[in-house]
Amino acid sequence: MGFAKIWKPKYGICLVSSMVLNLLLIGYLLFVGTKWNWELSWSMRAAMEAEAVASELCSGHGRAYLDGLVVDGKPVCECNTCFGGPDCSLFSPGCAADVDSGNPLFLEPFWMQNAASSAVLVAGWHRMGYQVNDQAHISTELEKHIRKLHSVVGNAVTEKRFIVFGAGSSQLLNAAVHALSQDKSTSPAGVVAYKAQTEFFRSNDYKFLGDAALWKNASDANVNIIEFVTSPNNPDGHLMKAVVQGDYAKAIYDHANLWPHYTAIPAPADEDLMIFTLSKLTGHAGSRFGWALIKNEAIYQRMATYVYENSVGVSQDTQLVALKLLKVVLEGNGGDFFDFGSTTMRSRWETLSEALSVSNRFSIQEIEPRYCRFFRQVRVTSPAFAWLKCERDEDKDCYSVLKTAGIIGRQGTVFGGGSRYVRLSLIATQDDFDLLMSKINTLVSDECVDSKLVEDHNQPICVDYKLIMNHTL
Ligand SMILES: Cc1ncc(COP(=O)(O)O)c(C=O)c1O
Repeated sequence: MGFAKIWKPKYGICLVSSMVLNLLLIGYLLFVGTKWNWELSWSMRAAMEAEAVASELCSGHGRAYLDGLVVDGKPVCECNTCFGGPDCSLFSPGCAADVDSGNPLFLEPFWMQNAASSAVLVAGWHRMGYQVNDQAHISTELEKHIRKLHSVVGNAVTEKRFIVFGAGSSQLLNAAVHALSQDKSTSPAGVVAYKAQTEFFRSNDYKFLGDAALWKNASDANVNIIEFVTSPNNPDGHLMKAVVQGDYAKAIYDHANLWPHYTAIPAPADEDLMIFTLSKLTGHAGSRFGWALIKNEAIYQRMATYVYENSVGVSQDTQLVALKLLKVVLEGNGGDFFDFGSTTMRSRWETLSEALSVSNRFSIQEIEPRYCRFFRQVRVTSPAFAWLKCERDEDKDCYSVLKTAGIIGRQGTVFGGGSRYVRLSLIATQDDFDLLMSKINTLVSDECVDSKLVEDHNQPICVDYKLIMNHTL
């Protein structure tokens, strides 16, 4: 009865509208929800596989990979140097610090912290063909992101430049020599620097001529001199300019390390032919991806042809990975990524410099702080490699001195720097760096056994009393 009393038509309208809305919502959830689940069905399995492997922590001293060994259904840990055991927890105390290679694994923790944004799922049918429209496919999105990255970082001019992709910068360095050696020349071109690669390819178009300094004043107009300019320099990290000048001189700028992790960026590089690589930018050396910025169209065409003939372009999967990584790098205009990279590298450089500051036996290069356009402040350097010198007369073979002390570096002679020098990589894993530092600290403290450790301006220094006595006499 009461119901009949309060019943009004407007309540009926509300009831019907609410029922219709609920039906629509249920229909939406059933239809779209099922479709959504169906869409996730094939990727979900891949995602679960990836996460299962990633959950193998390997004690923080190794990794398990999707394509790694599987034993008893479990992914096998691949341990960092000097670590072993099924979960990489066993350290081998006598093991040498191997800091020879330029493997840029210091960035691995950044990618693990950014696992969700950097993961890529590749469909089984992703870009299966060799080419698109008779051309090796170059991702326009990736090209756009590369140009944007250079503009955000301010390390290279990309306006009015052509871009060629390559399987790492190594392929592009060869493509560039090929392209430049065909330029207005009747004789084989001469290549200065990068001896090993130049001689390995034994081309009819070019030959190795020795150090760039030898050709500084040469002026044979009929012979092209192709100079590799590595800037920042490998091994000492200094910013470099071409030495060989004149109409016959052509430079290939290898800017692998021209990123804010390793150097201040004083101004955008504006050279005719510049080569960059993902290897030293994001650390993904294994993906084999590099790019060249080229001013001249004919040189661009020749380089593109070289890459096409050499490897029919660059892996489509790699281009997809590179695009995803660059999107993460560009988040917040590169702030998080380059902060992580430069903070890690700076802390390593400071730790090493501090340890060696008390040594009379070993020294490392000095690089002046410079204004960095990216960080908008003067920055101290954090080079990828330490260029260590053995100062004592008797330590002529510095590589052997370090090797005996359990440090494997790269001989200075490989870089034309003489046997008193050794290159030490600072871009490897934290384990590698920690081990290097423990060996360096032992060497330096052994040095102080015969000497005395004193405080000078709050800095501990080793005073070699034998040296002081010799001087006084
Ligand atoms: C200065 C320099 N250029 C080029 C390369 C080769 O790089 P990519 O991995 O792109 O072939 C390296 C690698 O260590 C390097 O240090």
